[in-house]
Amino acid sequence: MLSNELNERLTQVGPGTPMGALLRRYWFPIARTPELDAEPVLAITLLGENLALFRSESGALGLVAQRCPHRGASLAYGIPEDDGLRCPYHGWKFGRGGQCLEQPAEPADSSFKDRIKVPAYPVQELGGLIWAYLGPEPVPLLPRWDILVRDELDRSIGVTHLPCNWLQIMENSMDPIHFEWLHAVYGNYVNKRQGKPAAMTPRKHEEIAFDVFEYGIYKRRLLEGEDPATSEDWLTGHPVIFPYILAVGDHTRPTLQIRVPMDDTHTLHYWYRADLRAPGAPRQTSIPIPEVPYVHRNGRLVVETINGQDMMAWVTQGAVSDRTTERLGTSDKGVILYRNLLLEQMAKVERGEDPMG
Ligand code: FES
Ligand SMILES: [Fe+2]
Repeated sequence: MLSNELNERLTQVGPGTPMGALLRRYWFPIARTPELDAEPVLAITLLGENLALFRSESGALGLVAQRCPHRGASLAYGIPEDDGLRCPYHGWKFGRGGQCLEQPAEPADSSFKDRIKVPAYPVQELGGLIWAYLGPEPVPLLPRWDILVRDELDRSIGVTHLPCNWLQIMENSMDPIHFEWLHAVYGNYVNKRQGKPAAMTPRKHEEIAFDVFEYGIYKRRLLEGEDPATSEDWLTGHPVIFPYILAVGDHTRPTLQIRVPMDDTHTLHYWYRADLRAPGAPRQTSIPIPEVPYVHRNGRLVVETINGQDMMAWVTQGAVSDRTTERLGTSDKGVILYRNLLLEQMAKVERGEDPMG
């Protein structure tokens, strides 16, 4: 159980909040490359900030605050040009660094534009994703995780826009026990309701364990009947890359679940999946970018798939889970460890130090 104050400290991500300051020390994916190929200017919300992502005519990426400083129209509907983005309303033009370059309706000798600048952030492309960094300088290197760069992989990047805070999604990744219940027992119940055979045999978690390492936390599980000397889930486990990525799968089919906090009550969830290309097979020519729905047309949540079951458990906790009324048990030790790690890293940033990773 947390105090309301602590719950807010852990869940609020906007500018000026302690968690916002910690999260601003990491790069986040904000769009998939094929989306920007289809539409060169996109409205983005990241860490409570409304931004316009664009690819200029010359091919360079830019990310600026959405609101035009003239009279507030959205630059997310702007016109990309060679050297920047032009506001659709009265044509003010902004460079990739945010500087106002042109104000077509002002006198030619006016210096007004020199005093106008919008917030602008570094942006890079990697692994089919466009990444943004909203934090202070020096800008860290964008991590080249193997799954993002391995040449022999074909990729697909699904997306779900979830109406809930990012933390309850991440907490699920520190909670191995739910697999036995949500996916096996409940999943079998859902199948039975549909007249389908059970998909899984529920197996008791004999042990769960967590190890903090340089880039995050390894979570490990040992199921009933498994040999601790050979079980991959026990020996290696699944790494949570601090603070917002879960890595699962193996070398031939690695996947990332990437949780991007848009604001306090919305999370952009990427299902980043890669498959080892068969020998001699042609490489993919484009990356599929499916929408992964969390809700059916009739309003009922999707519970017929493992991912759907997870999303149901995240979303039904509410927009921001009320942790003042939760009752944690010993099986929640991973959740507690992760929260404490977040608090530790927030305190580091407050002291002017670099957080982990
Ligand atoms: S509101 Fe953008 S140029 Fe006027
Ligand atoms: Fe799950």
